[in-house]
Amino acid sequence: MNFLHLTPEEQALLDGAEGPGVQRAMEIVVTLGRIYGAGALVPIASAHISGVSYKNLGEAGLEFLRRWADEGARARVDAWLNPMGMEAARWRELGFSADFAEPQLAVIEAFRRMGLKPLLTCTPYLLPGHVPRRGQHLAWAESSAVAFANSVLGARTNREGGPSALAAAIVGRTADYGYHLDENRRATHVVEVSCPLRTVADFGALGRIVGRQVEGGVVYFADLARWLPPLPQDITRGGEAVDRLKTLGASLAAYGAVALFHIAGYTPEAADAGETLLRAEAQRLIVNSSDIETAYAAMNDAEVQDIDLVSIGCPHASLAEIAQVADFVRGWRLRTRLWVTTARHTREQAAAEGWVRIIEEAGGRVVADTCTVVAPLRALGIRSLATNAAKTACYAPSHSGVQVRFGTLEQCLQAALSGRWDG
Ligand code: F3S
Repeated sequence: MNFLHLTPEEQALLDGAEGPGVQRAMEIVVTLGRIYGAGALVPIASAHISGVSYKNLGEAGLEFLRRWADEGARARVDAWLNPMGMEAARWRELGFSADFAEPQLAVIEAFRRMGLKPLLTCTPYLLPGHVPRRGQHLAWAESSAVAFANSVLGARTNREGGPSALAAAIVGRTADYGYHLDENRRATHVVEVSCPLRTVADFGALGRIVGRQVEGGVVYFADLARWLPPLPQDITRGGEAVDRLKTLGASLAAYGAVALFHIAGYTPEAADAGETLLRAEAQRLIVNSSDIETAYAAMNDAEVQDIDLVSIGCPHASLAEIAQVADFVRGWRLRTRLWVTTARHTREQAAAEGWVRIIEEAGGRVVADTCTVVAPLRALGIRSLATNAAKTACYAPSHSGVQVRFGTLEQCLQAALSGRWDG
């Protein structure tokens, strides 16, 4: 095991030179470093903190955050929050109770006192001006964002927990182990896909199949680039490539524990290193069309016909996805609830384009700050939902107690128009 070397400045933080809040954060970062055999700490460019919904935190979590803020803990790098359980400005309009909203807002206030930006999204990589660069170290906790940052952008982050990401934000460093190191970024599994993948939902289905088989492995997709358009220069507006890849990463992380995948000839490390990224013992998997059909069937509750909510935007919808929804529902009147969940800045951009008005005139909502997995859906009277997101299909039944229909964006929006799932 490595001996964890601390600089004099880091040692001073650990000794309490900047107060108990910073000391507590340094203890967390250093303890993790010692457990995982890190040799040093590395400065991080940003942090992303999960575990923000009061539904998951409860009173004990809120008290913990308040105490840490009282101790003087403050983020020293850019740090964003994952979605919370409701939209801050419109919780009454969306049907949330004050019993839930008030402690949820208290959670956000505790984070705000610690210097975190009140931007609640699982797609911080779509934030203009803040896209991580290749080789930058991060401390991100949201598993779908971790997969995107590591894989598509070539940045370096472990799958942090909420407290460890917050601790890293407070000290501006994380321990140098896991996916921060070259040797752990080499692939344990090679995946060949022998069938067409034409939609975001197909990429989610692929993530389910592969995630379940490789668990926490590093995946090398040998031939996936043929189903992907080139990545745009500016990824922050989304588009077919970005939207497929963010869905793939979310699904791999939800059904397995994948934090890093490579695509031959496409993602930055695979484009440079090619097959030298493969470990000698890497296992091979082949995915075919019957695997994809089986995955669709497994994510569909065949009994459900009436749909209470159509949920689009997991991970949070890009501008391109909001435009697609607006195009589909323009001039129609929806028969059931439709939420397009997204980041607040993305909604502002979509509003400026007129897409939010089109969706809301049809009866849908473009909802910021939250998502259908962390919101208390049962309390809103929702028992069934339709989604094109494999991650929502993974978690909504257990986290929110709802039945799920899974399909393409068009199938989901058709269900929003008719109120029923037609398959
Ligand atoms: Fe994001 Fe919620 Fe999905 S946090 S990845 S929209 S489950």
